[in-house]
Amino acid sequence: TEPVTSPDHPERCTGTTAIRWERDESGVVTLVLDAPRSTANTMNQVFRDSLTAIAERAEAERDSVRGIIVTSAKKTFFAGGDLKDLIRIGPDRAQEAFDASMAVKHALRRIETLGKPVVAAINGSALGGGYEIALACHHRIALDAPGSRIGLPEVTLGLLPGGGGVTRSVRLLGIADALLEVLLQGTRHTPRRALENGLVHEVATTAEEMLAKARAFIDAHPESAQPWDAKGYRIPGGTPATPRLAAELPAFPANLRKRTGGAPGPAPRAILAAAVEGAQVDFETAQTVEARYFTELVTGQIAKNMIQAFFFDLRTVNSGAARPAGVEPRPVRRVAVLGAGTMGAGIAHSCARAGIDVVLKDVSLQAAERGKAHSARLLDRAVARGRTTPAERDAVLARLTPTADPADLAGCDAVIEAVFEDTALKREVFREIQGIVEPDALLCSNTSTLPVSLLAGSVERPADFIGLHFFSPVDKMPLVEIVKGRATGDEALARAFDLVRRIGKTPIVVNDARGFFTSRVIGTFIREGVAMVGEGVEPASVEQAAAQAGYPAKVLSLTDELTLTLPRAIREESRRAVEESGGVWTGHPADAVVDRMVDEFGRTGRAGGAGFYDYGEDGGRVGLWPGLRTHFTRADTEIPFADLKERLLFAEALESVRCLEEGVLTSVADANIGSLLGIGFPPWTGGVLQYIDGYEGGLPGFAARARELAARYGERFEPPALLLAKAGRGERFGGQSG
Ligand code: NAI
Repeated sequence: TEPVTSPDHPERCTGTTAIRWERDESGVVTLVLDAPRSTANTMNQVFRDSLTAIAERAEAERDSVRGIIVTSAKKTFFAGGDLKDLIRIGPDRAQEAFDASMAVKHALRRIETLGKPVVAAINGSALGGGYEIALACHHRIALDAPGSRIGLPEVTLGLLPGGGGVTRSVRLLGIADALLEVLLQGTRHTPRRALENGLVHEVATTAEEMLAKARAFIDAHPESAQPWDAKGYRIPGGTPATPRLAAELPAFPANLRKRTGGAPGPAPRAILAAAVEGAQVDFETAQTVEARYFTELVTGQIAKNMIQAFFFDLRTVNSGAARPAGVEPRPVRRVAVLGAGTMGAGIAHSCARAGIDVVLKDVSLQAAERGKAHSARLLDRAVARGRTTPAERDAVLARLTPTADPADLAGCDAVIEAVFEDTALKREVFREIQGIVEPDALLCSNTSTLPVSLLAGSVERPADFIGLHFFSPVDKMPLVEIVKGRATGDEALARAFDLVRRIGKTPIVVNDARGFFTSRVIGTFIREGVAMVGEGVEPASVEQAAAQAGYPAKVLSLTDELTLTLPRAIREESRRAVEESGGVWTGHPADAVVDRMVDEFGRTGRAGGAGFYDYGEDGGRVGLWPGLRTHFTRADTEIPFADLKERLLFAEALESVRCLEEGVLTSVADANIGSLLGIGFPPWTGGVLQYIDGYEGGLPGFAARARELAARYGERFEPPALLLAKAGRGERFGGQSG
């Protein structure tokens, strides 16, 4: 490893470099990205310094350089920003963040304008800063390695690409495509998709082929430059001054809201602004504009929330922090799915896609076959979109055996039950199969509301019984809530965890309680919205409050989807359980609204044809039911809109604290990830508990606001003891930021 030698900055001769300079006899320099003492390259101080030093050296030795190839010594090309570092940058370090962004930009710009061909040989994922380095190269060749992804996912962490990524992607693809394909959704493209979308120029199947292509490019283009530095260059599709684009641009924020669902946080808006403003000025000015927006985002709280959740917490959850250590993995070979309805069919499909043999059982062969047909539909769609091959589709379908005969479940080493939500029926189907499947088969129920410990009581091996709560639609929803019953053993938990990971989903682990974590918390969201209707709040404002708080689903429309009878049934069961155990049942202001809707107006939700909304013949939503405004009288006191938004967020956050207090939740990461991936808590918050941690004034600020809401709207907003205790000790729930 050559030391970093920087003639202009002798103080930076640190002795370590993250970029090796390897010049061969023909004058081709290979820049090898190879961060010291690390398995991946990230954009940190050493890397920035190395980049500057390399730019200086390239200029100093320009005459002896014929061309440059940029590649990596790691498994991935470049991992992106150094998130441990980024999450700690507060507003007091704005200047530093701006300077760091500009330093990267300057160094890349100097290499880009050297007058020599520069080729990115992308040998693995190039995300964020990695793709920004590649964008600064004149030619991009991606190695088509499995799992490789290319793109600018900064928006998913509440950031924007601050290393020239906005400036260059707009100049490469045009404003519209750059925004929609790359910047606003943070899509991680496979190398093939990257080629189709113009993110790279070539794809290679081997490393040798990639390097040969890189050399061929250098030979063929001795004086290469970027298209945007050529005379007469115009941004593809035009600038915001071009009439057609000028006509389209105003619709962008609305499209954006539609795609991201409600208030998307500041990152998409900042990206949009940086792209549009940057397209109207010269390259250097555009880079400065981009750095300003980057600084604004990186120093703010929302990026911290999102980095905490979508990077650190997600990693904690997926890495198996909740998996009992020391239990040997024993991969499931053949799984029995009981019930081929909405959930069973989806679960069977996910298992088969992961290479597991599935026996899909329903009461009739026809019903079971309908379940398999669901899988065939999803696979056909995937083939049509180029996401899978016909051969893979056939292989997946071959793994799915529909049946009505319990005898076909012989040899299954795991069972996932997804029949109707009925305790007696569920007990019955387990009784029916427990002598047929393997004697130590893992036994799982996909119940969404019934206590797992109660169901476990009906099987011979309660230690092997566990809840696996999937979300609908199963093929799209990334979360599974694993519910540990009182008798569930470590072996079962570990096997359930491994199964969930194997089918590519994210598992959170919670202890058994009515509604577990997710159903219980989303119940508070629904009740809060419904209660507002009862207070006479304009129904459209209730929906608007959810959207503006950043929820992907509006509260009354979600209630209609879930039906009004379901929460009522759950409420009645809970009431019975509380009263039987000698407790005092405290109702909720929503109860009366639900009762009137169902009993007086016969409006039970979408499935029943009428709910908070009216539905047309085809089942499509027509509009909010006008009767809401006449039957639920308007309050004479105006409720501030900010209160409406915060009541929804606080109701869920406070219930989550209670789940933690009661031991239903055992980890903060589980709470954050479960709320984000399972029940649509707004992404900008970083999850239910990160929302509290990141609230203005921290935990004391949150507790004070909760008390205010309690005084105005009811006791349910009183801060729980755990919250007050933590606030008193100056603690937070979790997290790295601060
Ligand atoms: P569904 O009504 O679509 O499907 C249930 C299926 O079970 C039907 O095909 C039925 O014929 C079959 N079935 C009934 N008795 C059977 C038996 N003895 N043997 C085999 N199959 C039998 O119901 P869905 O929505 O799929 O729900 C299933 C379970 O998943 C329920 O416990 C539900 O609470 C839970 N759940 C549902 C979610 C949803 O969004 N729909 C989300 C999470 C969990």
